[in-house]
Amino acid sequence: MDREDRGEKMRIESLDPRISVISRRFANVRKIIAVMSGKGGVGKTLVATTSALILAKEGHKVGLLDLDMHGPSCHIVLNVQALMPREEKGIIPPQVHGVRFMSIEYYARGSPLPLRGSEVSNAILELLAITRWPSLDYLIIDMPPGTGDEVLDLLWLVKRSEALIICTPSKLALSTVRRLAVLLKSLGAPILGIIENMRTEATSLITELAEESGIRYLGWTPYDPNVEKCIGDPRKLLMTDFAKKLAEIVMSSMR
Ligand SMILES: Nc1ncnc2c1ncn2[C@@H]1O[C@H](COP(=O)(O)OP(=O)(O)OP(=O)(O)O)[C@@H](O)[C@H]1O
Ligand SMILES: [Mg+2]
Repeated sequence: MDREDRGEKMRIESLDPRISVISRRFANVRKIIAVMSGKGGVGKTLVATTSALILAKEGHKVGLLDLDMHGPSCHIVLNVQALMPREEKGIIPPQVHGVRFMSIEYYARGSPLPLRGSEVSNAILELLAITRWPSLDYLIIDMPPGTGDEVLDLLWLVKRSEALIICTPSKLALSTVRRLAVLLKSLGAPILGIIENMRTEATSLITELAEESGIRYLGWTPYDPNVEKCIGDPRKLLMTDFAKKLAEIVMSSMR
């Protein structure tokens, strides 16, 4: 960073002291993976939460941060109910099924979250600044769909977040994911790769998208009708065909 960049960084940080706190909060986290997609409903939450469970089961120290400010849902997969984080010079995420878990849902408790743009950014800043992550091998972040405030703020505030893109083999998902890929590249954001989720038959749609975008294709997970009844039961979820296939991808690509 040259003198001019340093000056600009100090100027921005002086506007909101929380910004300078954030990088310290992630100092003991080895790898940060942000699960995202241009498209909604493609399985980001399921992949993010299941990946965290898989890594924890393998003996890694893992955190999971739900950064979907309008529709947090990782807590449903994990079946988090009457749990509250401990407050001690910030907030310490509780351990759930071996995963340190943080979400705005601890405070929202099922009520609507009618946040506008600047309020979303403010809530993200607050959540990132107050959460005291312990030493972690992996922090998985579940992002909302699209390229809105949450994604842009995270890419700006936590620059070493590696994007894990989720896409279903549908023409409707492809165009939005292509747009996300262009955005990530133009911002110089690190990209871990792309996972094809809910595959029902062999298709080259996503491998072609990955190749054309210069992004690593990490593999595919099947559409698994047994997943729905395992939501809220992590032990059963890890036994599904979906989780078994995801575990192969996680083991080979998340180092
Ligand atoms: N591989 C799969 N097999 C079967 N069902 C799946 C699979 N992946 C995801 N689903 C189901 O698809 C639905 C959407 O998944 P999920 O909520 O994880 O998507 P999302 O991308 O996080 O959505 P949003 O954009 O709303 O945050 C859920 O009902 C989930 O259980
Ligand atoms: Mg989601």
